[in-house]
Amino acid sequence: MNQENREFYGIYADRLDELCEFMLSEVQSMLDGISTDSETALAEHIKRRVKDSESLKEKLRRNGLSETAECALKNLSDLVGVRVITHFVGDIYTVLELIEACPKWRVKTVKDYIAAMKPNGYRSLHVILTVPFGVGGIPEIDVEIQLRTIAMDCWASLEHQLKYKKDIRNTALIVGELKRCADEMASTDLTMQTIRDLIQKG
Ligand code: GTP
Ligand code: MG
Repeated sequence: MNQENREFYGIYADRLDELCEFMLSEVQSMLDGISTDSETALAEHIKRRVKDSESLKEKLRRNGLSETAECALKNLSDLVGVRVITHFVGDIYTVLELIEACPKWRVKTVKDYIAAMKPNGYRSLHVILTVPFGVGGIPEIDVEIQLRTIAMDCWASLEHQLKYKKDIRNTALIVGELKRCADEMASTDLTMQTIRDLIQKG
């Protein structure tokens, strides 16, 4: 992590980096257990990050919490985040089963924004896990794994890009058009899944 983040996270910085690496390698190895062949791999790619201190402080403020690393560790669940990008919608639920079966953590919450998308069209499946931490008297923390198809990730990434351009007004037209794109991409995802199922049946 960069110097600014390191200063904010203080005594927790190294452990957060280490935990982030651990999460990535655990997820990677559970996926490799299913297939290491890129033709049949469950994930198109995997990313991980420790939350940037500026966006963390903004979230703490928004939630009426004090802007300290300790408070964030105890109250927020996405300081450490892993994102798994799958090819097909069905793969997301296969990965979820693998995560749920892993003895190295406890699943705390599953937020299925695919079954119930957000009003703006956002779709993904978020899994909050409780994992051992063990620094500064904090025994465990929550971390987040986001599971998305390439299409869901594409939409979320573009929508995020637009949302953070502050001069863009969130007009009904823009909100409506973004939602329409999300729905079109979801429809394509389902078609792609159907095509794969047909091919696999031979
Ligand atoms: P924050 O949204 O971060 O305050 O967390 P939360 O506790 O409300 O959880 P939520 O499940 O709503 O979202 C957590 C994360 O999912 C965010 O940090 C984003 O990475 C992603 N996310 C949620 N909603 C959206 C959305 O509408 N657009 C995009 N691009 N990403 C979203
Ligand atoms: Mg939110």
